[in-house]
Parts: sequence; structure tokens; C-alpha cells
Amino acid sequence: MTDTTSQTGNKMWGGRFASGPDTIMEEINASIDFDRKMYVQDITGSRAHAKMLHDQGILSSDDHATIDQGLHTILSEIETGQFTFSRALEDIHMNVENRLAELIGPAAGRLHTARSRNDQVAVDFRMWVRDQADSVQSALEEFISALLDKADEHADSVMPGFTHLQTAQPVTLGHHCLAYVEMMARDLSRFKDARERMNECPLGAAALAGTGFNIDRHATAQALGFREPTRNSLDSVSDRDFALEFLSAASICATHLSRLAEEIVIWSTPQFGFVQLSDRFSTGSSIMPQKKNPDAAELVRGKIGRITGSLVGLLTVMKGLPLTYSKDMQEDKEGVFDAAETLELCLAAMTGMVTDMTINRGAMEAAAGSGYSTATDLADWLVREAGIPFRDAHHITGRAVAMAEENTCELAEIPLEELQALHTDIHQGVFDVLTVQASVASRTSFGGTAPSGVRSQIKYWRGRLA
Ligand code: ARG
Repeated sequence: MTDTTSQTGNKMWGGRFASGPDTIMEEINASIDFDRKMYVQDITGSRAHAKMLHDQGILSSDDHATIDQGLHTILSEIETGQFTFSRALEDIHMNVENRLAELIGPAAGRLHTARSRNDQVAVDFRMWVRDQADSVQSALEEFISALLDKADEHADSVMPGFTHLQTAQPVTLGHHCLAYVEMMARDLSRFKDARERMNECPLGAAALAGTGFNIDRHATAQALGFREPTRNSLDSVSDRDFALEFLSAASICATHLSRLAEEIVIWSTPQFGFVQLSDRFSTGSSIMPQKKNPDAAELVRGKIGRITGSLVGLLTVMKGLPLTYSKDMQEDKEGVFDAAETLELCLAAMTGMVTDMTINRGAMEAAAGSGYSTATDLADWLVREAGIPFRDAHHITGRAVAMAEENTCELAEIPLEELQALHTDIHQGVFDVLTVQASVASRTSFGGTAPSGVRSQIKYWRGRLA
């Protein structure tokens, strides 16, 4: 519920004001419609602050007990939908504090000792982003594990490898899946790093300059699960790097997801026919009965717009802001909330799609062999077996490709005599390297596509993630 009736003056800061805000002012000022999402963090932060004030002898035992009990009540009121949020009270901080006053009377006014909404919002938002960084990491781990399972199942299923979306060389689907494992693992480490950097507690910076009260910032930092308190009060209330880093990591991750989504869209076309999406992750057309659309993949491809949009949005909000807090910074939250929710949804959809997807090995293998994809293998064979310099071997192979094109046949179907016309050293053994299986099996260099290499990379990642 949100109560929208304006009050004559704000109880929290209205002392010097003769009249209440214009309704438009209230409208532009209020953040409660979205920052109520941080109610757990706000109440947790307040409880830690109150306990510290008490431990430092700033708050009496009685006041601390009633404040703590009141905050506990508010938490359950919000959780059970009994709390009335008010726009006139601007944000989550003042909504909670106002309710505390209703519940326990004047003692509520002591909670804000040695604190400001500036450090309060900074700590609340940090904790919210920190929680998200944790849950994104779990979602990424699940997705990586789904990719590893697919890679394992298809360690030796051949498919065309592409450059310029033109058939380049045969690769294995397992190897292709592992390319995404690498990307997702880098994303995972980016979220981990960002979490580590953001894990400093700004609470106690007060409005901007610190406070004269004998507070213990190390105690609140510890109580709220932070590594340590932030070291500069001005930076503490004006920094939003933690949100920017979260959005950067989210944008890069969403970029990766959009690339796989695009591949799934292409692979599931009847023209490619490499994969079939499960009914659970596709939709039909209301007019064309034959259609099965990869909507989930398209949406993952499209939703990156919101995530990267949020990053650009917040970078733009922060650009050029003088120290320390400015109200512009209230615009930091919605984009982050939306990006976090969107990324989790995309990761869940991708995990489901990849797990459920049926692979059409035959179509992949047929495509892998088309387009003279083993031409490089022929050139390499000429280098190895006939001692021909690679540039010359490349030229000879080019002529073999032209020959195959003329005969409308595959490289492996050119009669030996015709190949020998290109170079006398060519013998029957060349045909061993012209199949797609032989091609992938030969790519045993570290990080290459050979099934043996794929299997050892899967083992490496399983070990690393265990
Ligand atoms: N709702 C505000 C925000 O999200 C809280 C901080 C307000 N601070 C202030 N000095 N007005 O940024």
C-alpha cells in the first residue's frame, strides 16, 4: 500500500519549513515506490547502528531495547503486507523511522544519532548490490555446470566452426560450449572481484564529514558483514562505483548471453537445423501452425538493452557530480534493480534452454563437412608429408578446392590422380585427414578442439568449480 496524501510538513526535516511541498515536488522527490525494495537492508543497518550506539554508551539500554523491538516489528509488518508506505515520507529510511516513532514514541528519534540518510542509503544500497552479486554468482555457476554437461555429452560431436559466419574448420560442439564456459567463468570472477571491492562499510560517515560522537565504525562494519569500514567519509557518501561495477559486470555477462542466444536462434532455424528447442522454451505462432519460435533466446538477446542501458544511465547520472552527495544519486537504484532482476532471469532462461535443447548431430556433422572445411587439413598435410612451405601448400589446396567446386564434389571425393596433378608427392594417405573426424581429432594443441583436449578442459573446469 502507498498512502499518497501530502502532509503539511515533513516530520523528519520540516522544522524550518512553513508549508509542505507542492504535490509535484513530492512526486519528483519520492523514492519510496522503488527503494522499499531495500527494507531488509535498511532495518538490518539500523539495528546494527542502534546496537553500536548502545555499546558505545550513546544509547541507553531501555532505548536500545525498544528501538530494536520496534524495528523487528516493522520488518514483520512489511513482510506480511501490513505496512503502509507513504510518499510524503519520501523514502524507505523515513518511512521506517516514522513508523518506529508511531510504535515506540520519542525514543525513535535517537536512532538517527551520528547518522545521516546519506551514509544510510549508501550502506543499504551496498548491501543490496552485494546480495545480488552473490546470487548472480550462484546463477552463473549453475549455467556453467549446464554448459559443462552439454560439453561432456558432445565432446566429439562435430559441427562447423565459423569465422565471418562462413564455414571455417570443423570443431566439436563440446569445444563450442567450453568457449562459453570460459566467458561465464570470467563473468563469475568479475562479480567476485566487484563484491570484494564493494565490501567496505560506509555507515558512520554521517552526512559527509564523519561525526563527533564516539562511534565504532569497525563494529558496525563487522556486524553487517563488511570486511572493514570505508576510510574517507566524503567518498563514502558520494561513491557509487559498487553499483557501476555491478552493472559493468552484468553488461559484459549479458553481452555474452546475447551471443549464445543469437547462435541458438540461428541454429534452430529449419535452414540450419542444428538444434531443437524444447517446448518449454519456445512458443508457437497464432497464425502459422508450423512455427516454433525461439522466443526465450530472442528475449535474452534483446534484454541486454535494459542492462547496458542501466549502466550507461548510471554512468551519466554520476558524471560531473561534485562531492559529496547530490540528490541526482537517488536515480542510482531503479536501473540496478532492473538490471539485476533481468540478468538473473536471462541466466535462468539460458540454463533451461541449454539443458533442454536437443542436438541434431547428423545435421551438424553434415554441415561441418560442407564448404571444404577440411581444406586447412589438406594444406597442413602437404606441409607435413611433402615438406612443402605452408604458403605453397595453401596455393595448391586452393586449386584443389577449385577442382572440387568444378566437379561439385567434396575434397575427399576428388580422384587421387587429379590431386597428384597438383603435386606429385600426394598419395592415398591424404584421404585420412580429409574427414571432419580426423580434422578435429588432429587439433590437439593446448586449447584446441580435439575431443581429448575438450575432455581434459571439462575436467579442469569441474575441478576448479568444485
Ligand atoms: N532517498 C535518498 C536517496 O536514495 C536517500 C538519501 C537522501 N539524502 C538527502 N540528503 N536528501 O538518495
